[in-house]
Amino acid sequence: MKIAIDGPAAAGKTTLARRLAEELGYLFVPTGAMYRAAALAKRRGLPPERARIEVRAGGRILLEGEDVTELLDDPALDELSSQVAVDSAVRRHLVALQREIAAGRQVVMEGRDIGTVVLPEAELKIFLWATPEERARRRLRERGGNLEEILAAIRRRDERDSTRQDSPLRPAPDAVLLDTTGRSPQEVLQRALELVEERRARLAG
Ligand code: DC
Repeated sequence: MKIAIDGPAAAGKTTLARRLAEELGYLFVPTGAMYRAAALAKRRGLPPERARIEVRAGGRILLEGEDVTELLDDPALDELSSQVAVDSAVRRHLVALQREIAAGRQVVMEGRDIGTVVLPEAELKIFLWATPEERARRRLRERGGNLEEILAAIRRRDERDSTRQDSPLRPAPDAVLLDTTGRSPQEVLQRALELVEERRARLAG
């Protein structure tokens, strides 16, 4: 089975996708990290639409053969990756890589356009949501900083990710909406595992 998890910035997609993949023994593919690696390539003066990006077990990311995973959480890449992601040449390049990675595999892939564009055939699509205020509070707990500034940055990214011409952030028509506001990561994981079971039963029957 292929599982697509989409949603806005800081909704908990990476945490859920990683844990779900571990529980199921599937490959975890964080596509946000791939856009972050493309942004890092650009910052290093390399063309992001041709960057050699690879995904390894546990969602580790290689850029031109170098493991850059630890560098990708840099808050400066939040904004730059969202800008790079507007470029259709970058999207074509990364979407092709993402489809190649998923071909013939059981994957949990998270991002913005997985259910709509990358894997429209995914058997389970989850659109993860939380209010901007809740997402800002989560980021504050993870990284520290100023709540108002974090909230403003999240709103800016939501706006850019949702209104871009190419593959804007939106739920696939057949996605299950999962509101995580006020729910712990464990509760969200449990709900996702129930959805997997329901889907498996339906596919088997
Ligand atoms: O999930 P994230 O915050 O790490 O993603 C970084 C940026 O990459 C995000 O602002 C939008 C972009 N992105 C995208 O356009 N499509 C994806 N499938 C994943 C991320």
